[in-house]
Amino acid sequence: MTDKYAVIGNPVAHSKSPLIHAEFARQTGQDISYTMILAPLDGFRKAVLDFRDEGGRGANVTLPFKSEAWQLVDSHAGSALDANAVNVIEFIDRRMVGHNTDGVGLVRDIRDNLHCPIQGKRVLLMGAGGATYGVMQLLLSEHPDRLVVANRTLDKAVGLVAHFRKCWNFAPKGVSAQSYPQVSGAQFDLVINATSAGLSDTMPRLPDSIFAPGALAYDMMYGRVTPFMQFAGGKAAVVSDGLGMLVEQAAESFFIWRGARPRTAPVIELLRKA
Ligand code: ATR
Repeated sequence: MTDKYAVIGNPVAHSKSPLIHAEFARQTGQDISYTMILAPLDGFRKAVLDFRDEGGRGANVTLPFKSEAWQLVDSHAGSALDANAVNVIEFIDRRMVGHNTDGVGLVRDIRDNLHCPIQGKRVLLMGAGGATYGVMQLLLSEHPDRLVVANRTLDKAVGLVAHFRKCWNFAPKGVSAQSYPQVSGAQFDLVINATSAGLSDTMPRLPDSIFAPGALAYDMMYGRVTPFMQFAGGKAAVVSDGLGMLVEQAAESFFIWRGARPRTAPVIELLRKA
């Protein structure tokens, strides 16, 4: 019998997840269907429960429902508890287990696909919203030399670092919260844009000298060249969008649900050509 999966969001029509999971299923010979569910902004809970009651085996959760999903699930697995956000729900009978695969997706894309080890690197993570919460734990587990979380609203970055300090036992000097003006003068080997500034065709104000020689500038957005990517390209940084992260987080979802690891490189290539 075909097992049912879906991505639930609002909006959701743009989602590449059905295509990605269809490719994974084809590769691994799994019999699944994967659809899109547009949930009303005040109807996420109902959409999830209806899907579960119709026999759904699992769901991806996208904007703006990741934090609501975190509250809805019966238990959290892996990094989801500290991330305050859930992007994968696994239905085990009627129980809902919440996972967060965004951090795994980001790290695998940077470290394995782009061949940029994070260990020992100076990392600047821009933004202190849901996207940053989702990836913090996995970034820390790679043991960067330092991780600076910069945000327009400094208080939010301070709160985020305090949250992860409670969850994680890291050296106080290793992780810090700063405003953008405070990072001037410092250089980073890896700069990750986890803000939503690209959606409005803007970017946080970064100093010209922010990139160390050979630095990687990574934007978690995909499907557009953001002002951050343009800026970084002009400073001779290596630039990447977040398409690889999208496919890698999907592969981890697929693994959670199906116990099979699809190959991601051909799917990333396919999406680049589409
Ligand atoms: P989420 O729903 O993911 O939590 P959010 O709270 O809107 O989304 O957070 C998005 C992030 O992008 C925040 O860090 C936000 O900065 P503020 O906390 O100062 O609002 C950041 N962001 C959005 N637009 C930005 C811009 N034009 N310049 C700098 N940062 C921006």
